[in-house]
Amino acid sequence: MSVGQRVDRLRAEIRRHDYQYYVLDAPQISDSEYDRLFRELQALEAEHPELLRSDSPTQRVGAAPLAVFAAVAHATPMLSLNNAFSDDEVAAFDRRVREGLAIEGEVDYSAEPKFDGLAVGLSYENGILVRGATRGDGVTGEDVTANLRTLHSIPLCLQGNDWPTQLEVRGEVLMWRRDFERLNARQRERAEKEFVNPRNAAAGGLRQLDPRVTATRPLRFFAYGIGGGGAGGLPPTHSALLDRLAAWGFPVSPERRRVCGLAGLLTYFGEIGRRRDGLPYDIDGVVYKVDDLAAQNRLGFASRAPRFAIAHKFAAEEAVTELLDISIQVGRTGALTPVARLAPVFVGGVTVTSATLHNEDEIRRKDLRIGDTVVVRRAGDVIPEVVRVLGEKPRGAGKEFVMPARCPVCDSSVARDADEAVARCTGGLYCPAQRKQALRHFASRRALDIEGLGDKLVEQLVDQGIVHTPDELYGLDLSAIARLERMADKSAKNLLSAIEKSKRTTLARFIYALGIRNVGEATAKDLARHFGSLDRLLAADEALLMQVPDVGPTVAKSIHLFCREPHNRQVIERLRHPGGLVWSEGDAYVSAPGAASGKVFVLTGSLPSLTREAAQALIETAGGKVSGSVSRKTDYVVAGAEAGSKLDKARQLGVRVIDEDELLALLNEISGQPSP
Ligand code: IVH
Repeated sequence: MSVGQRVDRLRAEIRRHDYQYYVLDAPQISDSEYDRLFRELQALEAEHPELLRSDSPTQRVGAAPLAVFAAVAHATPMLSLNNAFSDDEVAAFDRRVREGLAIEGEVDYSAEPKFDGLAVGLSYENGILVRGATRGDGVTGEDVTANLRTLHSIPLCLQGNDWPTQLEVRGEVLMWRRDFERLNARQRERAEKEFVNPRNAAAGGLRQLDPRVTATRPLRFFAYGIGGGGAGGLPPTHSALLDRLAAWGFPVSPERRRVCGLAGLLTYFGEIGRRRDGLPYDIDGVVYKVDDLAAQNRLGFASRAPRFAIAHKFAAEEAVTELLDISIQVGRTGALTPVARLAPVFVGGVTVTSATLHNEDEIRRKDLRIGDTVVVRRAGDVIPEVVRVLGEKPRGAGKEFVMPARCPVCDSSVARDADEAVARCTGGLYCPAQRKQALRHFASRRALDIEGLGDKLVEQLVDQGIVHTPDELYGLDLSAIARLERMADKSAKNLLSAIEKSKRTTLARFIYALGIRNVGEATAKDLARHFGSLDRLLAADEALLMQVPDVGPTVAKSIHLFCREPHNRQVIERLRHPGGLVWSEGDAYVSAPGAASGKVFVLTGSLPSLTREAAQALIETAGGKVSGSVSRKTDYVVAGAEAGSKLDKARQLGVRVIDEDELLALLNEISGQPSP
């Protein structure tokens, strides 16, 4: 046997044992036998570097540490799921599915656990792992390829030969409970910080800049679907797709089942719920997906989540503790939120010491008094809340809570609109609490992304009267920053260069950073796309604002009020000059402006070659927006086979209807290429 053949044989054998051990959890050889094979392969590769390949099992760890993760634009967006918390909500989901598909009888579903980890996408080209990315904001994630390569349950090359040349597998990275316990035991021995729960430990492990550190964290992977690629040649159902993924070497949940109708869903939920504590990993519910992939395609997506799937969540965990005090937090828009200070209690995987009480009415409704014994609830990443008081009434001497009439931070008066549950400090940017929040928001990652401008710094800058409004950040010099507490010369320089870097931004980020009430990231993007220039936005009245997709009267009013305020205008002007903020106008959200920018598309029916996600991605890349329903604001309805009520609605409203070819021609025109 030649050296090359021996190397091939060793690789195949090691891969098989990795698969047996990490995917099937059924090792066939001892650790020492495995080590012997591994070392032989290492030695041969060292002697014959010409035989080395990136998908060799010896090449899982190796890449050098990174300075930052590169951004990856997902070929098709990584969306989230809608949640159901009760049987009724599941029944409503099943009803919507049957109506959407016009099915009289029962629908077949694929049901599987909802893993409590982090979503990732793994891209394979010709069967070789080429990229792995986190979900990020769903549109753009972080390139964590080198880290994902260290997970033995992720195949570096696919088994079999019936895989599509381009394939993106999606799934969840998580840590098994027993591995988590062991990891924490190791941390304790080394007197290092312990991890709070398996999910946090997995997230921390995956986001290491040095893959050698990731390799020491026992991370696992479960595949639950595909993100794109594989056009044609894929199985007709989700359950068959999971079987196929298993055959290619991916771990898929052994708990997956194909079930029939609502009764099948609820029985499955009950069974998994009973077995939950016995599973080796944490789950926070189950996921139901319409099994037939063509039917999934027909149902499509509603804004952020698919209509063909839903997460049925387990009831949130509850615990009993003492309400020590109620304090007031002043938010960015001046909202005064009462916060419960609690005796520390472990619930839903973390130690909780505070919980939101929402507003005054909620406290009154629950009749909470300081000193009460209370039930707190926390699920997943949700903010903990106080559910109710435990025990008999009348209770102890605790005082009734009254919302203060003046802001506890700046002493401005507190106002509450008759139709609102929220009380607000009227101090605006005079109030240091609001000023701090506004600055934090301005500098946050999705806004102007000023790295290093954290809570502690903002606190000092505001408290010492150095910065009052965001534009003043751009006038800071080294001496002013270096004087602050815990500011080494190097960090001061880094902060200055981060501030400098933030000057080149996009219109959408700039609008979002302003912190206009009711204007989140998505609305900011819509506004940027619609108006294309800041001055056009500033000049718009409420009627013009309401022409923007998804902008209703409330949002239009907030924007208008904000833009009319002379103080805000002044800050905006100073940010441009002398601040020096720049962005490209015309269209700031997408790099290539085109006729699709600002256009609203609705997809209906199944298109001959594009999946719904692919069509959506193409439209969005060209600056367009895909909406779930047809209205007068729709520019184009893209109709495929079996288009239904949306097509009727389009005709009724006189909206232009196009097919896939016309869509592609339109998008090509936009990117400047000749139409086919
Ligand atoms: S399917 C279009 N299946 O839940 C969305 N997701 O809220 C397709 N998750 O970010 C997702 N287990 O990370 C799916 N068996 C499962 C899952 C699962 C966990 C996570 C996923 C996603 C989140 C959606």
